[in-house]
Amino acid sequence: MEKIELHTKSRPSTVYCGEGAFAQATEFLRGKDIFVVTDSNVFKLYESFLKEHLPQARICVVPAGERNKNRSTLFRILDAMIDARLHRSSVVVAFGGGVVGDMGGFAAALYMRGTRLVQIPTTLLAQVDSSVGGKTAIDYRKVKNVLGAFYQPEYVFCDPYFLKTLPRREIKCGLGEIIKTAALDKALADKVLQYKDRLEDLSVLRDMVADCVRFKARIVEQDETESSGVRKCLNLGHTTGHALELLFGRRSHGEYVLIGMWLESFIAQEKGVCTAEHAEWVRRLVSLAEPKIPRFQNAERGVSFALLDKKNSQKGSVSVLLSSGKGEYAEAELSESEYCGYLMRLNRTGSAEKKR
Ligand code: NAD
Ligand code: GLY
Repeated sequence: MEKIELHTKSRPSTVYCGEGAFAQATEFLRGKDIFVVTDSNVFKLYESFLKEHLPQARICVVPAGERNKNRSTLFRILDAMIDARLHRSSVVVAFGGGVVGDMGGFAAALYMRGTRLVQIPTTLLAQVDSSVGGKTAIDYRKVKNVLGAFYQPEYVFCDPYFLKTLPRREIKCGLGEIIKTAALDKALADKVLQYKDRLEDLSVLRDMVADCVRFKARIVEQDETESSGVRKCLNLGHTTGHALELLFGRRSHGEYVLIGMWLESFIAQEKGVCTAEHAEWVRRLVSLAEPKIPRFQNAERGVSFALLDKKNSQKGSVSVLLSSGKGEYAEAELSESEYCGYLMRLNRTGSAEKKR
């Protein structure tokens, strides 16, 4: 098990990664007033496990899925927290994927202006990315993560035990964020390429969790609230990824991020932000996960979602983050019609076929 410390201005955070992390969590939580937030799927799988290991916990179960990452579920959690008479030293435990982590974390940030927070991520995506770094949010009025707070958890416990029950599509989803990190971190990219034929094998992926957490921790330490620009690099592929997520809803966050990176590598190349070799290298990494590029009739609707993205700085334009190579990146503002032209290109691409 690896222990990774994250020092930010607001609050230090400690992340445990590896076998035994959950045992560490039970040790920390023993004797504390605990309020667990989880979702209906996770509860079905882990109800008896939770009751056995955290017998004193009050458990709030919310409906699973991104479409429930909204105002009404958030208030359901807050109501349950009030009914449970939580106090500021009670510990909110977000036990689930990124949706539960983002919403449970936001509820913890709001309740009495902040109660204690622990993240126990149960999806690969949440372990490699969303549980670390303190971003919490809900979606509102068709804008992803538009209401939220930066709120660091005291502890994050990433235990591979929970990954065994993940369906294949959720493993691919987590692989998406691993590949995004690899596009920013050469050492991880080398590892991904070394294991390119075994990228759906959990024994390989679970070993990359600590690599991703270490990388993200160093970025977040430099720019906790995404104000200096350093943290923005973690949004690679996300402008298009979020627009597709809102447009299609049914596929996974990580897969859409990969498709975003794929499309935005062409933008970077054509804008002269990176060399053709670097763009090709990004596409090669993306293609290792074989994301299926969706076909759509209405690119304008995709553009309308991208126009609402909170990263945009000018009305009527779409801001995309482009990898320029050597761990650096640039931002470009595209007009509505220019971005629409790129989105249309996805329809012509068909698939990100595997290139080895
Ligand atoms: P999710 O939370 O919806 O989980 C995916 C599915 O897996 C759900 O159906 C869930 O019930 C199920 N599940 C969870 N754990 C399981 C387990 N151990 N076994 C079987 N099934 C399990 O989605 P996600 O992919 O984990 O997270 C996506 C969310 O994370 C998005 O809302 C995205 O915006 C957010 N996100 C946040 C950050 C951040 O920094 N805060 C970063 C990346 C993504
Ligand atoms: N997932 C992007 C971030 O945490 O900044």
